[in-house]
Amino acid sequence: MEKTVYPVIKWAGGKRRLAPVIASRFYDDGLLRPGATYFEPFLGGGALMFYLKHKNAVGIDQNPELINFYNVLKNDPEGLYEKLQKDFAPYHSETFYYEIRNRDLEADFMKKYKKVDRAARFVYLNKSCFNGIWRVNSKGHNNVPWNHQDKVSLPSLESVMAAHDYIISNNISFVRGDYKKVLDLAESGDLVYFDPPYDVEPLQSGFTSYTKQGFGRKEQKELKDICDELLRKGICVAISNSNTGFIKQLYTKSTDGYSLYTIVDENKLRLARTIAGKACSRRYVNELLIIGKPVEKSFSGISLK
Ligand SMILES: C[S@@+](CC[C@H](N)C(=O)[O-])C[C@H]1O[C@@H](n2cnc3c(N)ncnc32)[C@H](O)[C@@H]1O
Repeated sequence: MEKTVYPVIKWAGGKRRLAPVIASRFYDDGLLRPGATYFEPFLGGGALMFYLKHKNAVGIDQNPELINFYNVLKNDPEGLYEKLQKDFAPYHSETFYYEIRNRDLEADFMKKYKKVDRAARFVYLNKSCFNGIWRVNSKGHNNVPWNHQDKVSLPSLESVMAAHDYIISNNISFVRGDYKKVLDLAESGDLVYFDPPYDVEPLQSGFTSYTKQGFGRKEQKELKDICDELLRKGICVAISNSNTGFIKQLYTKSTDGYSLYTIVDENKLRLARTIAGKACSRRYVNELLIIGKPVEKSFSGISLK
């Protein structure tokens, strides 16, 4: 059996557990074809990308430290592993954690530290912060507290090299920037999977501050417009989001032809409308998967597929 590859880091809101059900929908709907490129523009921990192991993939994220980490994993995995073992593991403590976290307060942080140092800091913080969260304030400074664990579990050389080998042998690239960059990069026949910060009902609290820009309802609407544009270009889209009235309305009000699925257990995806009304007691019911397939161009009713 093919070896499972993990993305090395654990990411808040990550799709590791749901990856198999989401991936099966991609294959059942014929969204991911051999030769096409797979795009994940809110990459985070990249659980889907690493699960799919598709040849030709592009990950995009606005978090500069995350993208720097992936590029170091691609270009200097041994350097990253050694750095973690030598300069981080032996010094682990609460004081050390805050010392490392607060490096980004230094004015010349990006220039002062080498890429491999920044990547090791990123992994160390990911493994020793509260709940593996990466959260920044409006100035872009990490403000996540320590996890109060005396031991830190850093990635093994084997797991670092497995992720590296997958990246190298499958033509995977990482781009730092806004998810909208995908509009310039994806081509007809490709698949773009969006896993944005989730919509939150106005009176509820939710975590959307992965980046200093945040992600509210205005951004959710912009994302829908981008999906429409991708569909017009012949590109397949899939979007994960929370099962709120706002998101359901956004993707069902027009004739764009999106299909909405809600995950009712780990092994099944069902159309949301078939379970409307009696869904609240089920697990994962807050999770929506929205699929958009471009309309096949036709001429006099004959498909040009
Ligand atoms: C819910 S997480 C993605 C989790 C990922 N699917 C996984 O399995 O780990 C959302 C990600 O979107 C990124 N992000 C937020 N706003 C963005 C934007 N405007 N453009 C690109 N990435 C953005 C955050 O940095 C964060 O990594």
